Amino acid sequence: MSKTSNINRVDGFAKVTGSATYSAEYKTPGVVYACLVGSTIAKGRIKTIDTKKAEWAPGVLAVITHLNVDKPVGYQKAKDKHNFGQPLQIFKDDSVLYYDQPIALVIADTFERMQYAASLIKADYFKEEHSTELKKAADKEKKVDTDKGNDYHRGIQDGYKNAEVILEAEYTIPTEVHNPMELANIIAKWEGNKPILYTKSQGVEGTRKSVAGVFGIQAEDVEVHSEYLGGAFGMGLHTWPYEIAALIGAKKLNRPVKLVLHREQMFTNVGFRPYTIQKMGLGATKAGKLTGLTHEAVAMTSSYEDFMEGTVNMSRFIYDCENVSTRYRIIPLDTCTPIWMRGPGEATGSFALECAMDEMAYKLNLDPIEFRKLNYAEKDLEQNKPWSSKYLLECYEGGMERIGWKNRKNEPGSVKEGNWLVGYGMGTGTFGCYRSPTSVKAKFLPDGNLVLQCSVNDMGPGTATMMTAIGAEITGLPVENVIIEMGKSGLPKGPTQGGSATTSSVGSAVHDSCNLLVSKALELATQNPTFKGIAITDLTFANGLIAAKNDNSKSIALTSLLAENKLEGLEVENLSKGAEEAKKYSIYSFSVHFVKVLVNPNLGKIRLAHVVSCADIGTVINQKTSAGQMYGGAVGGIGMGLMEALEIDHRFGRPINNNFADYHVPVNADIEKQEVFFVNKKDPISNPMGTKGLGETALVGMAPAIANAVFNATGKRVRDLPITLDKIIETVKV
Ligand code: MOS
Repeated sequence: MSKTSNINRVDGFAKVTGSATYSAEYKTPGVVYACLVGSTIAKGRIKTIDTKKAEWAPGVLAVITHLNVDKPVGYQKAKDKHNFGQPLQIFKDDSVLYYDQPIALVIADTFERMQYAASLIKADYFKEEHSTELKKAADKEKKVDTDKGNDYHRGIQDGYKNAEVILEAEYTIPTEVHNPMELANIIAKWEGNKPILYTKSQGVEGTRKSVAGVFGIQAEDVEVHSEYLGGAFGMGLHTWPYEIAALIGAKKLNRPVKLVLHREQMFTNVGFRPYTIQKMGLGATKAGKLTGLTHEAVAMTSSYEDFMEGTVNMSRFIYDCENVSTRYRIIPLDTCTPIWMRGPGEATGSFALECAMDEMAYKLNLDPIEFRKLNYAEKDLEQNKPWSSKYLLECYEGGMERIGWKNRKNEPGSVKEGNWLVGYGMGTGTFGCYRSPTSVKAKFLPDGNLVLQCSVNDMGPGTATMMTAIGAEITGLPVENVIIEMGKSGLPKGPTQGGSATTSSVGSAVHDSCNLLVSKALELATQNPTFKGIAITDLTFANGLIAAKNDNSKSIALTSLLAENKLEGLEVENLSKGAEEAKKYSIYSFSVHFVKVLVNPNLGKIRLAHVVSCADIGTVINQKTSAGQMYGGAVGGIGMGLMEALEIDHRFGRPINNNFADYHVPVNADIEKQEVFFVNKKDPISNPMGTKGLGETALVGMAPAIANAVFNATGKRVRDLPITLDKIIETVKV
């Protein structure tokens, strides 16, 4: 263990004491307050919109609708259908594409007057028939030719059908919403033709680009601040219409405009994990060797944007199987566009795959872990490459021991504790390890402190803490001497925080820049009389002191060195990117979640008696923040397994549980015992630190682990998430 491997969260104090400034909290002189009024139908056109009463209400400064908006110039040419595009062009025309789509922006001098005025807006519509139910929209299914959308075949197409033992099953996951504690929010203002945004974004540079596209300006002219985020889970990966609305309002009034979505709007306007139906076909020999695997998914998207994720990808490489087919289709529905939600794609896909693997294990009368070991992939058969590292077996072993897997019986319902049926289940997770080019500036200040600068955000996983730890390790400075500046434009360009790639991208850049900075300091030291005749390789740097390796008496403090050279500091800005060598390998993180459930057969109540999450994420930079990520991700997976579903009243195409009273998420009392285990072995290929990424694998595989444990306890196979008690009680014999 290094001295930094368990340091406290560096932004923890600021967050718990309230001194951390979130976007909507920036003190902005002259700020005015805005909100969005949403449509009350799911599809159609606005016939009339009465804004007069609102306009006449006290304190109202502007009411903006499609009738009076100054359309941003980028609306004409926006073709970008993916990621950071802005396809829902707010107030562009009279069309309504989903329920609660913004149809008016109300701005007033106080929050209360703004809210009151918004309540006075009334609209009439030409209603059209909407479609919000995936299962009833199969005729709109479409294939999109992209990397994710193309069919995949290895060996015989749908070869599972020729197997000795065949399993076919269909699984569904409902729409889930991110709903971080901090609401989506922005303060927007303009200085001439240059916008300044304080906004909730997972990607400063991405936000700059999309805003630039909409307003027909240069990305370099867009200033973005997003220094603290109260969680995001993926919803901050898009620039949303509300952000553009605030910018339009601020431009019109030439005043700063603050817009915070209310909680209900978080369910309708800023994306979600898409409702997905999956069909699995597994074929195996009687001895338990997988011979065929087919994974098909059909997921919802919006009517105006093709959203796709890697739902079927895991099935292509996680097991050793000769014949693999995957297909993925999307169906446009009358909703807001989905957006990646923690463990995007794989969380959904692993539910189908890992439940089907469990079902097949029962068919073969094999222990589910044994079945997986029989089909352990020694290399990545999709890419035909060796793994960079893979400690999945260690995850199985670590979890089995901690959960007490030896107490599991393969016969469902055969283990009891008092009146409770006991079940054990597990599910495997994985996620690709990505690394994006990242610039970091490392700078020694005259006082000896180290400043690390990068525009990357920290939405909560501990990015600032990770940067501090790596910077302190390499420079040998105490962590207290490391200052992080991040989450705003103007700093060296960092990546969007997503895809579990931040440590690999930004950590590597910190690593490289700090090494270069130390070399620069040592280089300077060789010119100092103290080290006359001593080679740079014979100098060390620790605790702010440069010293000769072989002669303790020869040393000089960095601060003195800078002062003697009359330097205001010493700095290095460096762009780091992955090595070509890495392309020869398949680089993935792996996780295995284990759960022990207790099910009350009379009430259908499911208790999570014990949850163990194990992961091979390469090197663990920080035990504390990594464990925090793993606990949190696992809890997200528990929500997915047992509670979360956005319920839509399809008669009206609108959600009925768009609030925290009715949309359930787990709380502490729902999980009786939770543990985390990291293999913590360095990956030799991924990046200089040997990390592999954690945020997504923390969730991927948890929902199937729960479903599998519930089956083991009750003999009831629930293939439609979430596993609520009504689905259990209907068939368990009392
Ligand atoms: Mo993550 S879904 O890449 O924020």
